[in-house]
Amino acid sequence: MSESKRLAGEKAIEFVEDGMVVGVGTGSTVAYFIDALGRIRDRIAGAVSSSEQSTQQLRRLGIEILDLNATGPLPLYVDGADECDPRRCLIKGGGAALTREKIIAEASETFVCIIDPAKQVDVLGRFPLPVEVIPMARSLVGREILARTGGQPVWREGVVTDNGNLVLDVHNLRITDPVALERELNQIPGVVSVGLFARRPADVVIVGGQPPQILR
Ligand code: 5RP
Repeated sequence: MSESKRLAGEKAIEFVEDGMVVGVGTGSTVAYFIDALGRIRDRIAGAVSSSEQSTQQLRRLGIEILDLNATGPLPLYVDGADECDPRRCLIKGGGAALTREKIIAEASETFVCIIDPAKQVDVLGRFPLPVEVIPMARSLVGREILARTGGQPVWREGVVTDNGNLVLDVHNLRITDPVALERELNQIPGVVSVGLFARRPADVVIVGGQPPQILR
């Protein structure tokens, strides 16, 4: 599995062009991409990072961290996913970094998603859907999600996001219309962001393997 992740992460380097500011996601697959980025660090202008975890790794490799407010739109974002459907809609947030990931995805011209083959599904929802919530709204949002979707929200106890919020993981969903569900859950007061990347899906998916597969 980690060999597939490595192959996907290293393949994504082909999308990096000289002088770019690169948006960088979070997770074990992205860690391979960051290692590869470190090897070409003199060719890039820096990175916008989606988490403290990725920031630490980028800094260790001598890559400058830039503020999205200062860079403006980015040419490229590379990130992993927990599930990916045939339309390149994703479930993300297994690493609790979904909100910053979503912001960077939105700001980027090209979103390259790097996954191992086990992440490919026909219908999203086997992986519990992460939802970041404001702490005081945890129970309210949980009840609303149950009423609106029938899914079972489970509080990811002990986890506080980089933004100081909590995560609910919604089990037992079968997401046949990811765009509609993303819109619906985004309307609940107290929801910061939903780990469905459907309105803005990936543009390119790299599935790690020998050779890696590129889906557009
Ligand atoms: C973090 C994420 C990750 O991209 C997702 O959890 C996949 O992680 P990994 O590459 O470790 O399997 O969304 O919030």
